[in-house]
Amino acid sequence: MSALRRYLIAAFVIFVFIGLWQQWGANSWRPLPTPGRHPTQAIDKDFFWRTIEHQYPVTTFRPVPTAATDVLPGVQAKFSPESAEQRQIRLSRRAAIKDAFSRSWKAYKEHAWLRDEVTPITGKPVDTFGGWGATLVDSLDTLWIMGLKDEFSFAVEAVSRNVSFVTTKAETINVFETTIRFLGGLLGAYDLSGDARLLSKAVDVGDMLYKAFDTPNHLPVTRWDIHAAARGESQTPHGNTLLAELGSLSMEFSRLSIVSGDPKYYDAVQRISELLAAAQMKTKVPGLWPVVVDPAREDFDVGSDYGLGGMSDSTYEYLPKMAALLGQRTGMYAEMYLRSMEAADRHLFFRPMSPKNDDILFPGNLHASVSDGHVSTKLDPSAGHLTCFVGGMLALGGRTMSNETHVEWAERFTGGCVWAYSSFDRGVMPETMSLTSCPSRSECVWSKPAWHGHVLSAQSASKENDGALLVEAQRLPPSFTKIPDARYILRPEAIESVFIMYRVTGDPSWQDAAWRMWLAIDKMTHTELANSAVWDVNPKSGEDPGKADSMESFWLGETLKYLYLTFSEPDLVSLDDWVFNTEAHPFRRLKR
Ligand SMILES: *[C@@H]1O[C@H](CO)[C@@H](O)[C@H](O)[C@H]1NC(C)=O
Ligand SMILES: *[C@@H]1O[C@H](CO)[C@@H](O)[C@H](O)[C@H]1NC(C)=O
Repeated sequence: MSALRRYLIAAFVIFVFIGLWQQWGANSWRPLPTPGRHPTQAIDKDFFWRTIEHQYPVTTFRPVPTAATDVLPGVQAKFSPESAEQRQIRLSRRAAIKDAFSRSWKAYKEHAWLRDEVTPITGKPVDTFGGWGATLVDSLDTLWIMGLKDEFSFAVEAVSRNVSFVTTKAETINVFETTIRFLGGLLGAYDLSGDARLLSKAVDVGDMLYKAFDTPNHLPVTRWDIHAAARGESQTPHGNTLLAELGSLSMEFSRLSIVSGDPKYYDAVQRISELLAAAQMKTKVPGLWPVVVDPAREDFDVGSDYGLGGMSDSTYEYLPKMAALLGQRTGMYAEMYLRSMEAADRHLFFRPMSPKNDDILFPGNLHASVSDGHVSTKLDPSAGHLTCFVGGMLALGGRTMSNETHVEWAERFTGGCVWAYSSFDRGVMPETMSLTSCPSRSECVWSKPAWHGHVLSAQSASKENDGALLVEAQRLPPSFTKIPDARYILRPEAIESVFIMYRVTGDPSWQDAAWRMWLAIDKMTHTELANSAVWDVNPKSGEDPGKADSMESFWLGETLKYLYLTFSEPDLVSLDDWVFNTEAHPFRRLKR
């Protein structure tokens, strides 16, 4: 045998060995993506939204990024090996979450298959998001991640054959919700599984939604009359639009362009981002955009209220996530993120007083008013379950931008939500609440009289009123001054941040926090069929929280997925390779 042939054979053997090792060795415990297992599904040229004429067609597109610009620092911690006992606890917790998922999934399958949601007490189907099977599409990647392969195949088959995005019975479509749930769900499941049927369905959703951008300035109609659009009527964006509904389409549309190769989706959202970037430092509170903006007049400082909670949230969340998705350490998204967090630090972040003087933070709401050209601001120390994503956002942004300050903040924000859960007898935090803020973030000493005083002012009660009596009548936990909305609707944000903190720090105490939160949530929301939203997380002792007979698709798409991942091996959907959209659908990050 010649030396060359020996060399070639040896190289071949090593090559095969590496291939097999990758296939069955290191990763054998997790489902492997299988791109190309299904023949590429040809795009149906006759799909309605691809045939409809656009009145304001875009002719040149911004080029789609195909590779990362930078090598970003790692997001995940180096995990130390677990003991046999730790492993056993972790696996039994994970099994409990998987059981809970299977129960809710079964209820959906039996009572509301192909519809948007199942009602978890009465077992009825309801259509809340266009009737395209929101729970089905939102659950696809969770099925894959949990290794429920047969259910996954069955579900993909159903989406592929039996869900059509040609039309809907709904009068209008919420473009944001459709993007994060349906487009996001299909893209996440496609990125994990490589099943081409999911990509062609995602392109269908993308082409339907792309028609909402057919306006004179190419900004979308966010609450969209899809039937008028189908009739070819001309459309303009609305004057008053919620910031979140305009600013958080970027990840899904960008990923769709990257995987489909069609630049039009990326181009459409990049226009929005460029306008937001240009306006960011010119608002009443430079660095932040208000909750309400006007895409028709391209005015991004219409309202007077600023915050990171509902109605703005994911616009901020998507800034570091876009940088992570596209592999950028500098540039528009990184800059917008850093500027927004500097402003949020100055104007929004507050520390609540707590009996144990916990070192925690929440983002409040800021009201800005202008008189004689002078802007004055007032911070309302309130928070909501929706603001609990902030910890996770800062942890991700802090790691990818190498900013330890952000990672420290992340710990304090996530700790804040864990504290809020534990403040209630039943262990679950409400939808919205107001808190007693400390004068200083660095130092804070608990004071009961100060708390009672804040209760009076938060409730606009007269000084003669007794704060202690209001606290007792409303069962307010220490530091809480008001609970405007006492529901818990199965939301994920607090657990989402706990999951990210666990992956970023490797500290198992976050797993314990998630487990306590899970036990409290399941106890409060468990029904015979599944889990239900509740009216009041803080009822009188011995009384029932009152079930609302509602289970939004994010229960299966987000809450149970983040819990499952918290109790999984840390390289299952590693944050070094994946970034989650705001509906917990993982997209593969571009690499160099
Ligand atoms: C799709 O719908 C047909 C009836 O139109 C039904 O027979 C079939 O079982 C459905 N497939 C799935 C996977 O739901
Ligand atoms: C980290 O973030 C803080 C707050 O946003 C900022 O003031 C600081 O300059 C950042 N540090 C670096 C190294 O970027």
